[in-house]
Amino acid sequence: MVYLDGWGRIFVIGPDTPKDEILKMTTPPKWGVYRSWKTRSGKRLRFEHLDQDPDDMKGVNKGYVVRKVNAYVGSEPLGYLKISYVPSNRVSECFPTVWHWVEAMKGWCFDIEDLADSWRKCHHYAMKVPKSLVNTGVRSNGLAGHEPDVETMQADMDALENHYVYSFGMTPRELFEEFVRDRVDYAFVDYIRVSEDWLRQGIGTALYNEGARWLAERFRLPLHGSGLQTPEAAAAWKKMGEDETMPTRIHKRRTDGREIPVLDYL
Ligand SMILES: CC(C)(COP(=O)(O)OP(=O)(O)OC[C@H]1O[C@@H](n2cnc3c(N)ncnc32)[C@H](O)[C@@H]1OP(=O)(O)O)[C@@H](O)C(=O)NCCC(=O)NCCS
Repeated sequence: MVYLDGWGRIFVIGPDTPKDEILKMTTPPKWGVYRSWKTRSGKRLRFEHLDQDPDDMKGVNKGYVVRKVNAYVGSEPLGYLKISYVPSNRVSECFPTVWHWVEAMKGWCFDIEDLADSWRKCHHYAMKVPKSLVNTGVRSNGLAGHEPDVETMQADMDALENHYVYSFGMTPRELFEEFVRDRVDYAFVDYIRVSEDWLRQGIGTALYNEGARWLAERFRLPLHGSGLQTPEAAAAWKKMGEDETMPTRIHKRRTDGREIPVLDYL
């Protein structure tokens, strides 16, 4: 059945499309055809979608979610795709200040709830004398006995945000802003695996496409390939890139100029 929705978007529901999938299509993707996937031997694939993989919570404190698509034939699990990214709505929740981000991501060890501890240790890690103590002879590694008032420490921390830190190669604020610009809502393949007995049956391709379709429909994001691909994964993306029925394109990464393949069902 060809269906035209209120936004003029066209999609096709095939005879094999499961009923529950049709019902879920409240906001169908703009691009192309909603397809039902089969293995090369003709068995229909069924998918399960998890907003968060319960077995992979390690990135939660750093703002990351891990979306997961499981593939089955009947009740037999055949493989899975994990998609990871930092959703924009988690940024202010996890990183209300640049220092929350530094503490979570850069391995600096300090108590973010304790301003004096943050003040001492961040200046120490950055090898920077606090602005309020410049020209007093105090060194960044000799702050143990010092505890200025809250306003002074806050002003020092604000100045430190914009101070070039050698180990970062830029200021903490620039680094945080780069993270927001390049990583937030950048959904990428975290991992994919198809069971050995089911390789070369089209299941990997089906998982990538089903993951990208779901990601577009539910979270309004395209799916980027992994930056570190095994030869099999790279071969699967290459083949998808040559298939005109799949909406692939190339994203050039700003940071290192690398070309990353994208499946974009938006
Ligand atoms: C990568 C992986 C998920 C692919 O799954 P799959 O179900 O076998 O892939 P598909 O059947 O959809 O293959 C699609 C195309 O990719 C290419 N391809 C896949 N595996 C290949 C291989 N081992 N050698 C050469 N080409 C391969 C082929 O062009 C294939 O099409 P074809 O079978 O018609 O020739 C699977 O090999 C896997 O689980 N590997 C182990 C884990 C892994 O490497 N994960 C990737 C981390 S980035």
